[in-house]
Amino acid sequence: MGKSLIKFSEKLIDRLKVAYNVVVLTGAGMSAASGVPTFRGKDGLWNKFNPEELANINAFLRNPDLVWEWYSWRRNLIKNVNPNLGHYALVDMEQYFPEFAVITQNVDNLHQQAGSKSVIELHGNIMRNKCIDCGQYISEEDLLKLEEEAEKKVPHCPQCGGLIRPDVVWFGELLPQDAIEKARELSAAAEVFFSVGTSSQVEPAASLPYLAKGNGAYLVEINPEATPLSSVADECLREGVEKVLPALSMEIEKIRKRIK
Ligand code: OAD
Repeated sequence: MGKSLIKFSEKLIDRLKVAYNVVVLTGAGMSAASGVPTFRGKDGLWNKFNPEELANINAFLRNPDLVWEWYSWRRNLIKNVNPNLGHYALVDMEQYFPEFAVITQNVDNLHQQAGSKSVIELHGNIMRNKCIDCGQYISEEDLLKLEEEAEKKVPHCPQCGGLIRPDVVWFGELLPQDAIEKARELSAAAEVFFSVGTSSQVEPAASLPYLAKGNGAYLVEINPEATPLSSVADECLREGVEKVLPALSMEIEKIRKRIK
């Protein structure tokens, strides 16, 4: 393998040499190189679609077929993509630190698919679906059958007839309590915190790097573009995750022993 062109600061390397707790917060940019569209920016989904019409419960109740069609399109798109080198680098990095967690805003399941063991999903998972009335989860296999029967319309729960929705967090909804509590606890304990591929605009995830830094973490942003977090970060690496994370994992391999 060629020599990495990405330069990491001595400060970061020194921190990583001794760190016990490392946290990586990921956003849509993490999966961009896999072919999953991001939300904001030039080619972002929210440039073409209106979140008010698609990503909240009232929109769903008003027009369930439209919202279902949009999520079904995204679910199928995601089903046909693969984790990228950045996802796999995080799987490698996990083996070098006693505590290593990925906190993700992504609903695409790609961290788990790559093999990361400690993943906290803040915004749910688009592959999981449930009934809005009785809460019953519908397996992927059953869902495919129900979708076929419903002919592009929203499928209904086989148990109670309620509407089926993706198990993702919509605007105006609370995050899963256990996920955000665990994310806050880990962020407060992090010695190195990476904010990766996120525009750092959506709360409460956007507050996690501040919590980490406030508790002494070395804060690193990985994003080709500047974000509101950039001026607070100790270091910004302005390249895609698919380049930076494999290079970082190679550095870590040089300075630490594999423990898992
Ligand atoms: P955004 O779409 O807001 O931001 C994606 C970020 O990724 C941008 O800052 C890009 O510059 C950056 N980016 C693009 N390609 C990249 C690459 N190859 N490597 C690194 N970074 C790259 O996505 P999020 O911050 O994840 O919420 O958005 C947060 C939440 O807003 C989402 O979880 C979603 C959305 O509405 C819900 O659905 C609840």
